[in-house]
Amino acid sequence: MKRDLLDVAALSVEDVTDILDLADRYAGQLEKRSHENDLLKGKVIMTMFFEHSTRTLTSFEMAAKRLGAQVVNWNADMSSLRKGETFTDTIHYLGAMAPDAIIVRHADYGSPGFIADNVDCPVINAGDSWRAHPTQALLDAMTIRQHFGSFDNLTVAIIGDIAHSRVANSNMVLLTKLGIKVRVIAPQVLMPEKLPSGDIEKFTSLKEGLPGADVVMTIRLQKERMDSVLIQSEEAYFHDYGMDPDKLDLAGKHAVAMDPGPFIRNVQISDTLVDDPNRSLILKQGANGVPLRMAVLDRYMNKS
Ligand code: CP
Repeated sequence: MKRDLLDVAALSVEDVTDILDLADRYAGQLEKRSHENDLLKGKVIMTMFFEHSTRTLTSFEMAAKRLGAQVVNWNADMSSLRKGETFTDTIHYLGAMAPDAIIVRHADYGSPGFIADNVDCPVINAGDSWRAHPTQALLDAMTIRQHFGSFDNLTVAIIGDIAHSRVANSNMVLLTKLGIKVRVIAPQVLMPEKLPSGDIEKFTSLKEGLPGADVVMTIRLQKERMDSVLIQSEEAYFHDYGMDPDKLDLAGKHAVAMDPGPFIRNVQISDTLVDDPNRSLILKQGANGVPLRMAVLDRYMNKS
């Protein structure tokens, strides 16, 4: 039976540990440049991105090629969707071409699940709506475990546009599953009414929410998913919720900054914090995208 990766809720702690352990092994091989692997030789992976991407699209393609697969980047703008063909018919035709896996990003809630129901190959969700971005949450967990050595006794504060962020949503689900204490900090207009777990603490100010946090994860204002202007100004937002080294000290001198990207400098996080290699794990997150996605392709495509 084929396996799809649609969200992190479906993963057990054992599944997550298995993927992260494998991702660490792939990271070690990539670092030593000793990577030679044709696990997916002869396979063709189709990427279908209906929204823009730098990190996810590129790292999936690199991961696929590092494992010996070929990649077809299907392009929505160049497709016959623009001539009026329906989404469902498009998926039926592409599925009929028998790709070995489909990696999809879409603005609509649940689209990867719809595709998974209509094709025979594994489908990996590369982000849908505000709902789920499972591989981002997995690579964030990988980065946290590499830095701290384990998930024991950790607190992660997620700051920003929690209401519209699939990264925040998947991280809340995954990090609580791994036993990490999770807090969210946001202005009331960017705070969802309901959170995925009752154990997550809500705060509306950095002063209240930051003390004791080990990781501070900033989240971009997702303007593309806002129906109206929800913040007074970017300057006011940065003053109240943007992170910089002094505000990170409110969490603790040991605390580190993370951001899934894309980050908007001096709106959600300052230049000085982004560019501080001792306190920012942001580029490490970017680098981990490749081995983590190699581990996902390995586990989801290499099983009968
Ligand atoms: N973090 C993330 O999903 O980045 P991209 O939108 O560039 O893929």
